[in-house]
Amino acid sequence: MTDSTMKPSTITQKDLAVHSGYRDEYCGAVTEDLLEQTITIVGWIHRRRDHGGVIFLDMRDRAGILQVVVDPDTPEAFATADAARPEYVLKITGRVRRRYEGTENKNMTSGQVELLGKEIEVLAKSETPPFPLNDENMTVSEDLRLKYRYLDMRRPEMQERMVFRAKATSAIRRYLDDHGFLDVETPILTRATPEGARDYLVPSRTRPGNFFALPQSPQLFKQLLMVSGFDRYYQIAKCFRDEDLRADRQPEFTQVDIETSFLNEEEIMNINEGLIKNLFKTMMDVELADFPRMTYAEAMRDYASDKPDLRIPLKLIDVADLMKDVDFKVFAGPANDPKGRVAALRIPNGASLSRKQIDEYTKFVGIYGARGLAYIKVNDASNINNGVDKESGLQSPIIKNMTDDVLARLVERTEAEDGDIIFFGADKASIVNDAMGALRQKIGLDMDMTTCEWAPLWVTDFPMFEETDDGQWTSMHHPFTKPKGSVEELKNNPESALSIAYDMVLNGTEIGGGSLRINTLEMQQAVFEALGIDAIEAEEKFSFLLDALKFGAPPHGGLAFGLDRLIMLMVGASSIRDVIAFPKTKTAEDPLTQAPAPVEGKQLRDLGIRLREKAQADTTKPAQ
Ligand code: AMO
Ligand code: AMP
Repeated sequence: MTDSTMKPSTITQKDLAVHSGYRDEYCGAVTEDLLEQTITIVGWIHRRRDHGGVIFLDMRDRAGILQVVVDPDTPEAFATADAARPEYVLKITGRVRRRYEGTENKNMTSGQVELLGKEIEVLAKSETPPFPLNDENMTVSEDLRLKYRYLDMRRPEMQERMVFRAKATSAIRRYLDDHGFLDVETPILTRATPEGARDYLVPSRTRPGNFFALPQSPQLFKQLLMVSGFDRYYQIAKCFRDEDLRADRQPEFTQVDIETSFLNEEEIMNINEGLIKNLFKTMMDVELADFPRMTYAEAMRDYASDKPDLRIPLKLIDVADLMKDVDFKVFAGPANDPKGRVAALRIPNGASLSRKQIDEYTKFVGIYGARGLAYIKVNDASNINNGVDKESGLQSPIIKNMTDDVLARLVERTEAEDGDIIFFGADKASIVNDAMGALRQKIGLDMDMTTCEWAPLWVTDFPMFEETDDGQWTSMHHPFTKPKGSVEELKNNPESALSIAYDMVLNGTEIGGGSLRINTLEMQQAVFEALGIDAIEAEEKFSFLLDALKFGAPPHGGLAFGLDRLIMLMVGASSIRDVIAFPKTKTAEDPLTQAPAPVEGKQLRDLGIRLREKAQADTTKPAQ
């Protein structure tokens, strides 16, 4: 047995510090061990049912639910139970007895027993909550849940997630402590740490006109700790990024941040793979096999994604070479463009997809900029090879534009069989990758193609730099990542330089990323130069790092896990908001505290700040 699993509440008396002047036992942990004993519990009324003369109270606390029965033999308790309403806090003393046959509940730790309530004290009354907390299919809006998050978190589902997260964090700390890592805190008020997002800024009162930036990650501090000689560091660190939010992105999130000295990338990856394997074993009794490795180039070629979901066995197949001369511009254009891509995605048994479903997938790829979704349904592949009557073997709006030879080679290349459908993406490579990568994932899940529950992997050999839409070069990881090869090689060929970086991917989500770091001034300057950061700017922004590299910086490298994402996947939640106690909305606001909020004029004056007119107008608008 593991000490926790992700589904039912598995808190036992052993896990809980029971002692309290108010209670003898936690509700959710009362079992047959206590039969016939008189005990006192405290908790919230989860549900109250009046069964004609007998009142049932499902009492809830952190450990779960206990059924309490109150009958009219105890008139005072009965009157209190009768007047009580959901979410009242009660203290109840009574006798533990076995439930009547047929009324046991196997899904609850306390499901074999109930408490016959004798004395009831109301510790706190409750107004009717803004949404029912005992409804398992929560249908209320997330904004309302977030506004009353303290109530939302009373729900057993949320309680379990929070308990799981706390235990997982402990397990991570234990593993890292056992492996010689030292927990060091780094500042929150600091300078910009370039991880590619916008910074959250904090104005300085003591230096008017100057700003702190909240850290996008502790990247530079952990590197400095390596220079200080703390050769194994970790921190459960808050990071702040002002970026567009999605289900797996929050403006404020948590990393398990790790850095080491004197280890090569193999050793670093092994320690971190060990951490995740240990976590799955401890928390869910799942034994993960060794993680496969894939280069970035392979991942993009086969899955059109740098975070492929390997639970889904589908792969993309490049067919540009077959399409160079076809009489169909949509394909021939990208096929002849060095920056284009023409990729096929064969879906086994996909010929059964209806016109409507295909239209929906066409709309879906449109979100990623695709201008269409060509397809060929393969009804009878043998007809193509015969070279006769291709229309009866294949069904598609585009085959009229292709020769039999091209079609035959297409079927051969994709290994399509009767009953399959082949989808095509043709455009700039970046659009095809975004669209077809997402389509692969969507169809795989829609058609229940997953072959396993957990598919972790490492993606390695990332390019050092990538070109942004406006033609600038930017770091694919961050500018402190070590390239493969020498300074000379980097200078001569920055576009094709690869980095010693690695991402850990689980079920199609990037759960961690890291790299070896540059530890010489010469290489760091060469990378800044390749990024168009000149010596003056580099000195201005990163003089502390550049200085540190002059004083014996050891070879070092590390990684950071996105803790929220990891927990989200482990508990089966669909958004990281569901595993964060007090998350922000998609517009980076907190409906509970109504942050961000206007501040007093005096505070602004102290900071030497005057709001511009538009911003002033915005301050009158409530947060939600
Ligand atoms: P990176 O930027 O890849 O690397 O971040 C590491 C991991 O953090 C998680 N993550 C996020 N989770 C929730 N909300 C966000 N907005 C968000 N952004 C990132 C992801 C990601 O894999 N300093 C480097 C690490 C290193 O090189 O050691 C860094 O921050 O799971
Ligand atoms: P059209 O000739 O524009 O009617 O397109 C014929 C087929 O090609 C339709 O099924 C379109 O969805 C598809 N199509 C159009 N543009 C693209 C594209 N860039 N990539 C893939 N398929 C496309």
